[in-house]
Amino acid sequence: MNVQELIDTARTLVAGNKGLLAMDESNPTCNKRFARLGIPQTEEARRSYRELIVTTPGLGEFISGVILYDETIRQSRKDGTPFVKVITDAGIMPGIKVDTGAKDMAGHTGEKITEGLDGLRTRLVEYSQMGARFTKWRAVITISDTIPSRGCIEANANALARYATLCQEAGLVPIVEPEVLMDGNHTLERCFEVTAEVLRAIFNQLYTQRVALECMILKPNMVLPGTDCPKQDSVEEVADATMTCLLRAVPAAVPGIAFLSGGQPYELASARLNAMNLRFETRMPWALTFSFSRAIQQPALEIWKGQQANAAAAQQALYHRARCNSAARLGQYRTEMENNVGSRSS
Ligand code: 13P
Repeated sequence: MNVQELIDTARTLVAGNKGLLAMDESNPTCNKRFARLGIPQTEEARRSYRELIVTTPGLGEFISGVILYDETIRQSRKDGTPFVKVITDAGIMPGIKVDTGAKDMAGHTGEKITEGLDGLRTRLVEYSQMGARFTKWRAVITISDTIPSRGCIEANANALARYATLCQEAGLVPIVEPEVLMDGNHTLERCFEVTAEVLRAIFNQLYTQRVALECMILKPNMVLPGTDCPKQDSVEEVADATMTCLLRAVPAAVPGIAFLSGGQPYELASARLNAMNLRFETRMPWALTFSFSRAIQQPALEIWKGQQANAAAAQQALYHRARCNSAARLGQYRTEMENNVGSRSS
C-alpha cells in the first residue's frame, strides 16, 4: 500500500468545509423507506433516486465523498454515464460499503454481529478497479439494561479491525463505523458509558490488527439519550458529552471523525455538530464532520416521492441539508439558515 496516498485521501475526505454523504442503504433498507412513501420498490426506482442525488447541482461544494452500495456502484445515469464518473466529475470521491449486514449474533439474544469478511480481499480489488477510494463497515450495538455484552463488543471490534487492515492493504481508506443505537429509554450517561467502552475496544483491536490510524476515518454515533428517554438533553449537553467521550477514546493520529446521524431529527443533527465544532474548536486534534444519510437525504426523498416532476425541488432540499451541515462543520450553522432553502451559494 502507498501510505502517503491513503493519508492524503483520508485528509481530503474531512478537509475544509466538507463532509460525506452516505447513500449506501442496502436494497431492503432503501425499499423500506420507499414503501413508507408509496414509491415502487424496484431497481429502476432506486437507480432513478440515486441519479437524482449524484446529479444535484453544486453538491461538490459541501460533499467530499459519497458512500455507495454494491448495486449503486454498478449503476449509471439514464444516459449511460456510470455514477462513479458522474461523482468523480463533480469533484467528489466515490466510496463503497463492504460489509454484508448486521446479523443476529449466536448465543447473544438481541445483539448483532456484522458479517462480510469472507472473500473481502477479492471484493476490494474489484471495487478499487471500479474507482472506489474508500470503504465503510458498520457495526451495530444495542443498549438495554442487560446489553451490550462483552462478547458482542469484542467480536464487532475484531471484525472492524480486520476489515480495516484488508482495506489499507488494498489501497482503500477504511471508515470504521461503530453505531451505538438511539433506540431505547436509556439516558445520555448510559450512552456515554457504552460508547466509551465500544471505542476503547475498537482502538485496542485496531492497534492489535496493525491498522494505520493515520489512514482511516472514524464514524461514530453522537452521545445521546435514547429516543424514549424522558430526559432529552440540550444541544450543548449532547455536544459536551460527545466530545468528552471522543477526546478520551480517539487517538490524535486519526485524521477525522465523521458522525452518522442515526435517525436524529435533521435540524438537531446539524445543531449538535455545530455546537461541537464551536465549543471544542481549539481542543480537537482531528477534523470533526458529518457522514450522514438520513439527515441529508430524508427531506429530499419525501419531496421526490418517486415523481420525476419533483426531482428539481428534491435536489434543492438535498443541497440545502448539505449546505447546513457544511456550515455546522465550521461552527457557522444558524437555525435561520433553515428558512432559506433553495438559493444556491449565497
Ligand atoms: P444515518 O446518518 O442515516 O444514520 O446513516 C449513516 C450510515 O451510513 C449508516 O450506516
